[in-house]
Amino acid sequence: MAHKVLLEGASLVKCFGGMQAVNDVSFQVRSGEMLAVIGPNGAGKSVLFSLISGLLRPTAGTVFFQGEPLSGLPPHRISRKGLARTFQHTALFEELQVVHNLALGYQKRTRSGYWDTLWRNARWRDDQDRLQRKVLAVLESIGLTAKATHTVGTLSQVEQRRLAIGMALISEPALMLLDEPTGGLIQEDTDAITRLIRTIHATGIAICLIEHKMRMIMDLADRIIVLNHGRKIAEGRPAQVAADESVIEAYLGKKRDA
Ligand SMILES: Nc1ncnc2c1ncn2[C@@H]1O[C@H](COP(=O)(O)OP(=O)(O)OP(=O)(O)O)[C@@H](O)[C@H]1O
Ligand SMILES: [Mg+2]
Repeated sequence: MAHKVLLEGASLVKCFGGMQAVNDVSFQVRSGEMLAVIGPNGAGKSVLFSLISGLLRPTAGTVFFQGEPLSGLPPHRISRKGLARTFQHTALFEELQVVHNLALGYQKRTRSGYWDTLWRNARWRDDQDRLQRKVLAVLESIGLTAKATHTVGTLSQVEQRRLAIGMALISEPALMLLDEPTGGLIQEDTDAITRLIRTIHATGIAICLIEHKMRMIMDLADRIIVLNHGRKIAEGRPAQVAADESVIEAYLGKKRDA
């Protein structure tokens, strides 16, 4: 089992005007690890993910992925390097079918260019075959095979969450960033998504997970980092973090546990 560092954030800072949303945060994620990022509302968790995925540029500090600095790369280039992300508020194409959403997620993995597509040549056909196989495989693993040709807007909330995870999965990432994948879901659906995350993790994909549901985190995470007012206030194994005074304090009166 490899334990090399996959992702590293070095002294990351993000300011919005005078407000420091992320304040000197450093962390590492090792390959195959499941790291949870927790903290009260507004702690800077989603902003941290945006710094990693390239949606926002850090005011200071650097993100390294597989030893390479990602600084300044646009999100699609970062995604192509094997770093996929889901959003707190899902970003799906509602009017399109499930399969078409997934196919769009796979575009960046295909090799054929403009001329290949125009001539429908061997490379293009090869890509189409790979695309089809990949979409079917992902549909299966996210449990949406029966909904393949349904329009996304007609899916239930939990099915849309499955699809959002599928969109990340189809880009064949080494690391997935999941921002509150079960936010707003009832317990039964939360459990189903938890099982899906566990299954994906078991295939060797490292996962960074933002969640408010402590029971789920305690159950899933190898390690936890805690943010409060943009700063990392604790880090460690779930049991360590749960017993940490500063963490308990940060959560007092603010807990949004399910
Ligand atoms: N694009 C932006 N412009 C200005 N301020 C922002 C922007 N994005 C986030 N913020 C602010 O940065 C702080 C951290 O926000 P962030 O979304 O990271 O919180 P969070 O930890 O994800 O909270 P939650 O648990 O509610 O999702 C908040 O005060 C938020 O209002
Ligand atoms: Mg958030």
